[in-house]
Amino acid sequence: MPRKFKISVTVPGDNSIDLYTQDLTLVVMTNLKGELKGFNVFAGGGLGRTHGKEETFARAADPICYVDKADVYELVKAIVATQRDYGDRTDRRHARLKYLINDWGVDKFRTKVEEYFGKSLEPSKYLAKKFKYQDFLGWNEQGDGKLFLGLSIDNGRVKDEGDFQLKTALREIVEKFNLPMRVTPHQNVLLCEILPGNKEEIIAILKRCGIVSDPSKIDTLERLSMACPALPTCGLAITESERIIPSFLQRIRALLKKVGLPKTSFVTRMTGCPNGCARPYMAELGLVGSAPESYQVWLGGCPNQTRLARPYTEKMHADDLETFLEPIFVLYKQQRKKEESFGNFCDRIGFDALREFSESYQG
Ligand code: HEM
Ligand code: SF4
Repeated sequence: MPRKFKISVTVPGDNSIDLYTQDLTLVVMTNLKGELKGFNVFAGGGLGRTHGKEETFARAADPICYVDKADVYELVKAIVATQRDYGDRTDRRHARLKYLINDWGVDKFRTKVEEYFGKSLEPSKYLAKKFKYQDFLGWNEQGDGKLFLGLSIDNGRVKDEGDFQLKTALREIVEKFNLPMRVTPHQNVLLCEILPGNKEEIIAILKRCGIVSDPSKIDTLERLSMACPALPTCGLAITESERIIPSFLQRIRALLKKVGLPKTSFVTRMTGCPNGCARPYMAELGLVGSAPESYQVWLGGCPNQTRLARPYTEKMHADDLETFLEPIFVLYKQQRKKEESFGNFCDRIGFDALREFSESYQG
């Protein structure tokens, strides 16, 4: 393959895997009895880009086709082979499937895939359920009598620190109950196959280790946020991300209170460079390291990650977070529609209106 190739699988309505950011996604289609019939196929998503290079960009996947379950392997093979044979091998920055689909257009891509597949592609089936972002935190039923527990892992970092003993708690629970764990695309952990009789003991271990297992106790701004590793572990980082996002979120919460939006929350994602590892380009507020201590700001994504955000400003210094966001929050408070999310508001009202209001804002 010319470049990384990311594949995800989900069910209708569940966008916890950020399906529009993947090279290839299969959405499980069942009949009324819940039996597997086939898949709706999406392709051409991808986020990695480079500052100042317009030819690199974040892209949301397109719906490609529906495929019967019997043919899914051949169809995936055909898509992968198309990228293998036509993906750009001369320029690494232009090597993802998203660029091939963008250069060709979806119709030509479908035609090529059909050549490899050996038959024509069926149109995508209607998806009745709207995609939702879900994090599965807290106690949930698996559907087979057992339970699973979703634990929020701040920025995906499993550690012991003072009274907060997450690593110890996870080790103790897994050793004692022999439970499988799953890591989620939102940097959390799911402890699976829990017998209901063991629930109380697991709660006690978590409590003793200082771990909050009740998601309603977590500030939603934090719950919806995500940061990449960046400094000091990632050699490509331009700015802080994982280490600084907790203080950014506290400052944003304080600002929201100040402007009279104390309960407002939205999806905030931060990365230390434009490669986009925490998928900031799908956030309602995306912060992308662009110069030392400065971030490119992306606005206009939506709460369920089905629309790309757009770059609003190239460099916002970390010290300017409050002065930068305050007018935008004030305008949001004044002009939002009932229940309208921050990202949907920014998208609807447009960047010109946001800029005009910010420039004349007196505080
Ligand atoms: C710490 C060192 C890391 C490095 C050097 C690194 C490097 C990169 C690079 C170069 C890209 C751009 C790929 C492209 O455009 O083709 C990328 C994208 C991405 N990475 Fe990382 N990464 C790191 C950590 C992580 C971690 C820990 C995660 C997940 C928990 C992650 C998830 C992603 C995602 C979701 C994307 C964007 C999606 C895309 O373009 O497909 N990365 N990373
Ligand atoms: S987005 Fe973050 S983790 Fe990914 S390459 Fe850039 S700095 Fe490193």
